[in-house]
Amino acid sequence: MRLKNKVALITGGGTGIGLEIAKRYVEEGAYVYITGRRENKLKEAADMIGSNIGYVAADVTKKEDMLKVAEKIREEQGHVDIVMCNAGIGGYVSLTDIDEKEFYRVMGTNVLGTYYTAQACLPLMGEGTTFIMNTSVTVSLGLPDFSLYIAAKSAMKSFIHTWTSELRSRKIRVNAIAPGIIPTPAAGGELGRSPEEEKARQEYRSTLIPAGKVGNVLDVANAAVYLGSDESSYVNGVELLVDGGLAAIYPVKL
Ligand SMILES: NC(=O)c1ccc[n+]([C@@H]2O[C@H](COP(=O)([O-])OP(=O)(O)OC[C@H]3O[C@@H](n4cnc5c(N)ncnc54)[C@H](OP(=O)(O)O)[C@@H]3O)[C@@H](O)[C@H]2O)c1
Repeated sequence: MRLKNKVALITGGGTGIGLEIAKRYVEEGAYVYITGRRENKLKEAADMIGSNIGYVAADVTKKEDMLKVAEKIREEQGHVDIVMCNAGIGGYVSLTDIDEKEFYRVMGTNVLGTYYTAQACLPLMGEGTTFIMNTSVTVSLGLPDFSLYIAAKSAMKSFIHTWTSELRSRKIRVNAIAPGIIPTPAAGGELGRSPEEEKARQEYRSTLIPAGKVGNVLDVANAAVYLGSDESSYVNGVELLVDGGLAAIYPVKL
């Protein structure tokens, strides 16, 4: 019970990595709120987890939605201890094709959404509470056609420095987890690949990673338990790579 009596918010917690973090947090004794735009996914996730879980359909790019989330947490719990800024999207688009719509879609969700999440939650956060950014191993890599996503995740990574400084007097920690290659809905079918194409791609990628395999959502969730718990109370302003060693040996062609 490493998170006993803690209250957590996980944005984008209805699927993928966020859902696994929600499961692990509840197992470790936390009360967890998950958000996302699709209410049906949130309900499915909450039904599966069963207890100590609440959800609110909310778009991180809409400040009024995030204020509604914070208000529910305030009414029900009075405070929040762990804010996992996990909602994120990306896509492969060459630098010559980036337009205003794609820019605001990717930057809006990852960066503005993280600001709105923080602005809504900060009034509920006391000493010893923590933010965790979900960044990406790609921040350390020079992947072609991924510059906008990497720019957005780099901005989120920068918050571990600037927010750690800005929130210093309140003793709020700010860390990040940078997942490696983790098969999830976003990393597979939702990017337009068939299951066969995705499987072949993961097999090839496994050969490039020192761990010899792609990661899984539990690898990331276990890191999130550590950074959310008091075990990491002296860990502040770091990005924890959960990538099987990929960034350490890059460059390789993904
Ligand atoms: N999978 C990987 O290999 C990998 C690697 C590095 C980093 N990451 C990061 O990990 C995080 C989770 O991704 P995932 O792989 O688990 O994919 P995922 O299952 O697609 O999760 C993304 C979540 O974000 C939510 N979301 C998207 N836009 C939102 C918005 N405007 N407002 C609120 N929620 C929103 C989605 O729910 P709705 O669509 O219902 O809103 C979804 O639940 C992302 O930040 C991603 O960039 C993933």
